[in-house]
Amino acid sequence: MSVPRPAAVIVLAAGEGTRMKSRTPKVLHELCGRALVDHMLASARDLGPEQLIVVVGHALERVTGHLSVTSPDARAVVQREQRGTGHAVRTVLEEVGTISGTVLVTYGDVPLLRTQTMAELLERHATEGNAVTVLTAEVPDPTGYGRILRDESGAVLAIVEEKDATAEQRAIKEMNSGIYAFDGDLLADAVKRVSTDNAQGEEYLTDVLGILRGDGHRVGACVAADFVEVEGVNDRVQLAAARKLLNRRLLERHMRAGVTVVDPDSTWIDVGVRIEPDAVIHPGTQLHGDTVIEPGAEVGPATTLTDTFVGEGAVVRNAVCDNAQIGPQVSVGPYAYLRPGTVLGRGSKAGTFVEMKNAKVGERSKVPHLSYVGDATLGDDVNIGASTVFVNYDGVEKNHTTVGDGAFVGCDTMLVAPVTVSPGAYTAAGSVITDQVPPGAIGVARARQRNIEKWVLRRRAGTKSAAAAERALAEQEQQEKNQ
Ligand code: UD1
Ligand code: CA
Repeated sequence: MSVPRPAAVIVLAAGEGTRMKSRTPKVLHELCGRALVDHMLASARDLGPEQLIVVVGHALERVTGHLSVTSPDARAVVQREQRGTGHAVRTVLEEVGTISGTVLVTYGDVPLLRTQTMAELLERHATEGNAVTVLTAEVPDPTGYGRILRDESGAVLAIVEEKDATAEQRAIKEMNSGIYAFDGDLLADAVKRVSTDNAQGEEYLTDVLGILRGDGHRVGACVAADFVEVEGVNDRVQLAAARKLLNRRLLERHMRAGVTVVDPDSTWIDVGVRIEPDAVIHPGTQLHGDTVIEPGAEVGPATTLTDTFVGEGAVVRNAVCDNAQIGPQVSVGPYAYLRPGTVLGRGSKAGTFVEMKNAKVGERSKVPHLSYVGDATLGDDVNIGASTVFVNYDGVEKNHTTVGDGAFVGCDTMLVAPVTVSPGAYTAAGSVITDQVPPGAIGVARARQRNIEKWVLRRRAGTKSAAAAERALAEQEQQEKNQ
């Protein structure tokens, strides 16, 4: 479908959204990794409008501050007082001047509206040569919405707001989505003639339809195929419902592109996530931000990845990873926590109850069990024994540890940074390593074992331990006699 580029898209987002009961302005509430308003702007942007305009008012600084980061291409127009949707559009045209060509008006709280649906509206508007075309929908319960009034032939006459409607009009199930394509020149003229003579004392943009029709212009309607798309978010129940629908839509796109999503109902994904074919996502997984999952990787169950890269064929189970780079064929978890700056080389492992931070791990190196690796560089083919701690914090500063290629760190080693275990060096289990271990040496840093004979018999007499010891000692004595 070839759709004419609109001259402008105007996104109305000045309202407070009181039903959210939130300190955060409604349009900044998030779903699938993006604020409500940014969802609308992303779909609008895909229409290639010459101008992208957002009407802001409530929580002005926060909203404009947000938009300047996420949508620097959008021009914010300030509507100081929210005196109605008609007033909002009038404010825009007074500030930027009349916009000739097609002007699409939409809202900042309609995150499910697809570019495709807006394109269909624009196409209808163009082919019918309308002055205005409104996007409508048949809904089971139109309560709260403006209703579409049509004559016997089906031609659109006007829109009446619920509060101004008669009982008969309220029975109409065709609602106004609040999304329209206008002829910009006609809009500029008509919006000035909108009155406030209605139940809410506001300037209704909806009145522009009746005005243009009264002037003898063509007024059309485009009925959305799926009413769910045009439903706005007004409270947190609707926000959750919209999130679920959008999540499903995103997952279906991935599944159709060759990704296995074992349980879409328990998998949550952000719009910015990239997943390559033949990746498998297991239940209970959340993929956030700019996470990338390469072909054949397996993620989950119960894994949360944020801005994390998972290389080809890697397996990440029951893990929480934040800003981590997981190389190809790496194994992570179950029960691992990878914090920012973790970089795992090809074929390496961050195993069970392992935490890493700012740690570069070389190829094939393994940290299989119960360890903390912070502020460290590990070479290739390193083995870190269970319960090893990289003691990186002295209470004031974070210090770095280097472990060379092929080094073998024994279980329960404390590597007190800054310290180096050289290539090919070992540390003895239970050591507290404070000084460099030279290549090929073993660092032993622990007290020698001393046994105090029969201590339990004397000091724990009468206990099960003492009884067991007595039996064992007697047996030993018997054996010695027999020899
Ligand atoms: C509006 C329509 C109604 C339609 C419904 C669809 C009018 C008069 N009514 O009603 O026919 O069925 O949307 O959701 O247009 N806004 C501003 N500035 C304002 C007023 C509103 O920017 O002065 C923005 C709001 O932030 C919101 C949108 O416009 O995003 C709609 O405003 P809202 O007050 O929710 O309109 P409704 O009464 O729901
Ligand atoms: Ca609304």
